[in-house]
Amino acid sequence: MIRIGILGTASIARLFFGEPLKHASILGIASRDVTRAVEFAKHYGIPRVFPSYEALIADEEIDAVYIPLPPHLHCTYTIKAAEAGKHVLVEKPAAPSSDEIAQMIDACRKHHVVLMEGFMYRFKAIHHRVRGLVQEGVLGTIHYLDFSWAFNIRKLARSPFRLDRMAGGGALNDLGIYGLDFLHFLGFPDPTLIHVSIKRDGPAGVDMFTHMTWQAGPTFASITCGFTCDANYYTVCGELGSVTVPGSLSGRIRDNMLHLHLLHSDHRADETFPAENPYVKELDHFAVCIETGQEPETGGGNALRNMRLVEAVRERGQLS
Ligand SMILES: NC(=O)c1ccc[n+]([C@@H]2O[C@H](COP(=O)([O-])OP(=O)(O)OC[C@H]3O[C@@H](n4cnc5c(N)ncnc54)[C@H](OP(=O)(O)O)[C@@H]3O)[C@@H](O)[C@H]2O)c1
Repeated sequence: MIRIGILGTASIARLFFGEPLKHASILGIASRDVTRAVEFAKHYGIPRVFPSYEALIADEEIDAVYIPLPPHLHCTYTIKAAEAGKHVLVEKPAAPSSDEIAQMIDACRKHHVVLMEGFMYRFKAIHHRVRGLVQEGVLGTIHYLDFSWAFNIRKLARSPFRLDRMAGGGALNDLGIYGLDFLHFLGFPDPTLIHVSIKRDGPAGVDMFTHMTWQAGPTFASITCGFTCDANYYTVCGELGSVTVPGSLSGRIRDNMLHLHLLHSDHRADETFPAENPYVKELDHFAVCIETGQEPETGGGNALRNMRLVEAVRERGQLS
């Protein structure tokens, strides 16, 4: 069992406790405020509490850390953890710049530890079914993909970092990056940016709504992300058929459903996938990568590719 320590009492870290882990155990939690860590540990039955992130990283019993801090802190704590010989599962975006991600990759390589970026959607069976339909050619050549993920940020009482440019906030970093990662997940080559529209009326110029059009070979991809309304779906359209997946991008644990339409036979079917906890699967996969030396699909190289696409959007959209 890989013994994991969590840096910070993040909301997202609370989702890792739904089902038992097979390859890992959560041994400790650290907080800037030890009373928060004590409360968190008590609630989720975590054996050890640390009064600082540094103390957790220095502990010899911890094999690996999970970093769900605001994005501007990901690089610093990944490097500290790597230097202490700890493997790193870092939340998305791995860091707000490709320079920082390159430093994280170097540090993890130098200290022979695994670096993995947390894209929990990749641990849901429904998206693997879609990947199979695309990669096995069932939908034919893909000509169009429409991916939208947005939520109304006024619903979020906490997490001010999402509206703080210096902390790596903004809709593109927070949600748009999923759409870009999804292109890599489906196996498309690195796309070319065609068009960007950005609504940047958040605090200090944070992007509140971004729409991008990309081209990857014969495929046009429309990716939308935002903090002003709710959207959560994607459609992948090929010359032989299409698949639409509503409401399955988030980590909410409930049944998921896709709609498949094959053109020649006019076959139309809804497929249901039972509720599952992708966070637990993600953590177990991280542990398996540590045990076996397998490179995670969402390792440093994938993170770098994602962030370079984000940077292309920032540059075209003049988003600092
Ligand atoms: N994969 C997913 O499904 C998913 C979903 C949501 C978020 N995320 C990612 O997970 C990360 C955390 O998101 P979240 O929504 O869980 O955030 P959150 O609830 O605001 O938690 C962030 C934690 O970071 C710590 N922290 C340290 N310095 C901080 C600072 N200057 N400002 C604020 N917090 C600070 C705090 O813990 P202490 O005070 O206890 O130290 C805080 O609880 C982000 O990278 C986000 O993009 C991923």
